[in-house]
Amino acid sequence: MSHLSLKSLVAAFLMLVFFTSGIRAQDGAKLFKQNCAVCHTSHTDAHGTGPGLKGVFDRVPKPADAWIHKWILNNEKVIKSGDPYANKIYNDNAKAAMTVFEGQLDDKAVDAIIAFIKGPPPAAPILAKGPSSDVAATENVGGIDPLYLTLGILVILAILIGALRSVRTSLQNTANRSEGKEENPEIGFWNEVKGWMGTNRRLVGVFSLILVFMGMKGCWDACFDIGVYYTWETKNGYKPEQPIKFSHKIHAGDNEIACQYCHNTVEKSRHAGIPSVNVCMNCHKAITEGATTGKTEIAKIHSAAGFNPLTGKYDESKSNPLKWIKVYNLPDHVYFNHSQHVVVGKQECATCHGDLKSMTLAEQKNPLTMKWCIDCHRQTEVAMEGNPYYERLHKALKEKYKGQYDVKFTVDKIGGLECAKCHY
Ligand code: HEC
Ligand code: HEC
Ligand code: HEC
Ligand code: HEC
Ligand code: HEC
Ligand code: HEC
Repeated sequence: MSHLSLKSLVAAFLMLVFFTSGIRAQDGAKLFKQNCAVCHTSHTDAHGTGPGLKGVFDRVPKPADAWIHKWILNNEKVIKSGDPYANKIYNDNAKAAMTVFEGQLDDKAVDAIIAFIKGPPPAAPILAKGPSSDVAATENVGGIDPLYLTLGILVILAILIGALRSVRTSLQNTANRSEGKEENPEIGFWNEVKGWMGTNRRLVGVFSLILVFMGMKGCWDACFDIGVYYTWETKNGYKPEQPIKFSHKIHAGDNEIACQYCHNTVEKSRHAGIPSVNVCMNCHKAITEGATTGKTEIAKIHSAAGFNPLTGKYDESKSNPLKWIKVYNLPDHVYFNHSQHVVVGKQECATCHGDLKSMTLAEQKNPLTMKWCIDCHRQTEVAMEGNPYYERLHKALKEKYKGQYDVKFTVDKIGGLECAKCHY
């Protein structure tokens, strides 16, 4: 194989890699799922908060793509401009407000979404399900991972080189024979590759760098999939994107809402509890706009509650439960009880969960390993003084250890290291 043809093969290969990662970056299906699926189905007639988008290109004013583009970016503007079709669908949908995406989606993203709605239906239909954790689970909608693609292409490349090489050798041998010359001695595939690499050092260098980089990225992603959620050095842990941009800083920090207002079982049961959408509606029936996210995020609460902010009415049939993604996760074989730690043990939320009052996105702030639990049990004294839970025990212990004031009753001394206390 000549140097030139190998070079062009490598070039073609690199183009393929960049081309495929380009597609992935603006995946219309993913964007639709993240931004539109709360209110729309993409390829059916099923009505969510907004109409099902099947056949939408036939009913909107022409040219349809341009109209839909304008509409997605700022539907309010289109309605206010007096556009008769816009006003018709607005009235037909009980004047329900569609989100304004200007500033959140750029032209390229909008075009990718339009291409997706126009294209064939996805294998798994995207339904108007309400804000849901599926968003995170389907990151790779409609694309082979570039890493696998690269590996595949490499294998094909190797086979191709091998095949071309053997064709060339046999052609040369036939030619040699007909000219009465000796047959070409077998140089060996790897010797030839080595020779080629020697004469094309720079290309080989760039090529290997790209491969190493892609390999590292693959491992990195894989590691996160496996579930290494905490970095000891930086004290940073799992921090998933949530279906609604809920901020503890705004609620528990700036507006000083008590943790227990939302996590209202934390003192009564083993679970702290995550508030239902009805709790959000206590305030967000009236607060329909936020300082940083405008109407977008709060509209998702309304959609999940089946609430129409314009009529002020609820429609139960349109409500969907919110599916928050859990940040703190213990394995099933471990028993942990909140009320025991918060009420009896008098531990602060922040000791285990960090300062949520300053977090915009909730993040795991402790490793949740067995060592973490046990270290604290070894160091923390049982809060007995003035604790009704321990009144009798406390009196008895005082009696027993009269005069030995340096005795410390840490949690391990009351059984906090017994396997069965933490394991089923
Ligand atoms: C909060 C709910 C909501 C979200 C989110 C939303 N829409 Fe809408 N959409 C509506 C409603 C409601 C209508 C009907 C018109 C109205 O009442 O304003 C509508 C109308 C439309 C129409 C016209 C439909 C027709 O039958 O003519 C298109 C197209 C559309 N939306 C696309 C999108 C796309 C694409 C996204 C995501 C980028 C999106 N919408 C996000 C609520 C929403
Ligand atoms: C001693 C450490 C500790 C303290 C103190 C603590 N938590 Fe937790 N919290 C945990 C652990 C461990 C989990 C994971 C539980 C599981 O997965 O079963 C958790 C889970 C949670 C969850 C997820 C939902 C649930 O019930 O599993 C919420 C919400 C929560 N904590 C809120 C709070 C609040 C609010 C406070 C203070 C009033 C608090 N926690 C105090 C350790 C603690
Ligand atoms: C006790 C009242 C109260 C409750 C309950 C409440 N919120 Fe809020 N929320 C507020 C206030 C106040 C704001 C700030 C509004 C502003 O930016 O002016 C806000 C703002 C927001 C914003 C917009 C933030 C921004 O800056 O754009 C979102 C999103 C939000 N809340 C989600 C939720 C969710 C989800 C729930 C339920 C889990 C909830 N809220 C429960 C009072 C509440
Ligand atoms: C207005 C309601 C609200 C208030 C007030 C609130 N939270 Fe939350 N909290 C939520 C919601 C909703 C989630 C789920 C979404 C998320 O993880 O951000 C959550 C999640 C959490 C989690 C992660 C649970 C998990 O494992 O998924 C912890 C820990 C937590 N809250 C602790 C606190 C603490 C501590 C306070 C008080 C300083 C507090 N919260 C105040 C609504 C609230
Ligand atoms: C910040 C310190 C701290 C951490 C971290 C902590 N605990 Fe505790 N734990 C306590 C305290 C204090 C008590 C004593 C409560 C009491 O007085 O009964 C306790 C008590 C317990 C008990 C009851 C022990 C008994 O003998 O009654 C269990 C079970 C338990 N913890 C489980 C866990 C598990 C599981 C974890 C880790 C996921 C954990 N704890 C992490 C402070 C902690
Ligand atoms: C204070 C609570 C606590 C006590 C006491 C405790 N464990 Fe654990 N154990 C945990 C937690 C939390 C985990 C989960 C760690 C993780 O997911 O990394 C765990 C995990 C384990 C595992 C699984 C291995 C792993 O790292 O996930 C084994 C096995 C185990 N414990 C055995 C024991 C035995 C045996 C004892 C008694 C000598 C004991 N544990 C006492 C909290 C405790």
